[in-house]
Amino acid sequence: MREGEPSGTATLVAVCRGLAPRVRDPHAAALVPSRVRPLVEAGMRSRLVREAARVASGGVVDHVALRTATIDEALREAVAAGCGQVVVLGAGLDARAWRLALGVPFFEVDHPDTQRRKAQRAPTEGAPRYVAVDFATTRVADALEAAGHDATVPTAWVWEGVTMYLPDVAVRDTLAQLGERSAPGSRLVISYLAEDGVPLAPAVRLGFRMLFGEPLEARYRPAEMRALLEGAGFEVRFDGDSRDWLRDWGGHPRLARLLRGERLAVAERAAAAAR
Ligand SMILES: C[S@@+](CC[C@H](N)C(=O)[O-])C[C@H]1O[C@@H](n2cnc3c(N)ncnc32)[C@H](O)[C@@H]1O
Repeated sequence: MREGEPSGTATLVAVCRGLAPRVRDPHAAALVPSRVRPLVEAGMRSRLVREAARVASGGVVDHVALRTATIDEALREAVAAGCGQVVVLGAGLDARAWRLALGVPFFEVDHPDTQRRKAQRAPTEGAPRYVAVDFATTRVADALEAAGHDATVPTAWVWEGVTMYLPDVAVRDTLAQLGERSAPGSRLVISYLAEDGVPLAPAVRLGFRMLFGEPLEARYRPAEMRALLEGAGFEVRFDGDSRDWLRDWGGHPRLARLLRGERLAVAERAAAAAR
């Protein structure tokens, strides 16, 4: 992240949700910076703009659309199954708190630079509880405790599109802390870059960093992610890439396949694993 500035990748993802082929995020235009707002507003009005942006994005719009649909569904299921609170980690400009209106306490954890800007633009009605955390330096467990998160109530955790921007040690440490605060029945949806899914030549890493100000860092093999999640007390129920994700937002795996190096795992804290 560029110091003092909100996340560039969070803006990219929010724009994609505003331009998603079938269902568009109605909050995206309000949340994104003013320099890209006209594009999202035009996409809201015009199918032609959406289709042009979709093709120009090289699959990113479709990838985000499929990822969003899959996570929304997993979150609804988690709450229906008894998760009494939601925590979105690295929430960026995600509007789930308003879009899904799940009726349970909703926390958004993010880097203070991104969160500050979001809180200025987002509606106050239906707003989540904002918790400012730098995963690399702050204990998320302590910040959540201070914000009123209840570790005795099952939590639905969402960690979407964030782990790849963090060093491995921050991912491991944060997962262990989520384990500490996860009552039995808690669920975790986490996306990660597959170790062998994306060719990350030094030039690709450098280009990404120059464009978005964020380095691409942690990557895992699915077996490694499974072991990490098990270490934090979660059992994996699903792990797949864009070819396995839902279609509700109109995204298409054929267009999304460029990014199939990102995987999504859904895991549950079983009763036997409770500490
Ligand atoms: C690609 S965006 C994803 C945002 C959101 N989850 C979504 O899907 O729309 C990455 C997010 O990770 C957050 N992030 C990156 N590094 C972070 C750090 N060290 N601590 C806390 N948040 C961080 C950024 O602020 C940003 O919101």
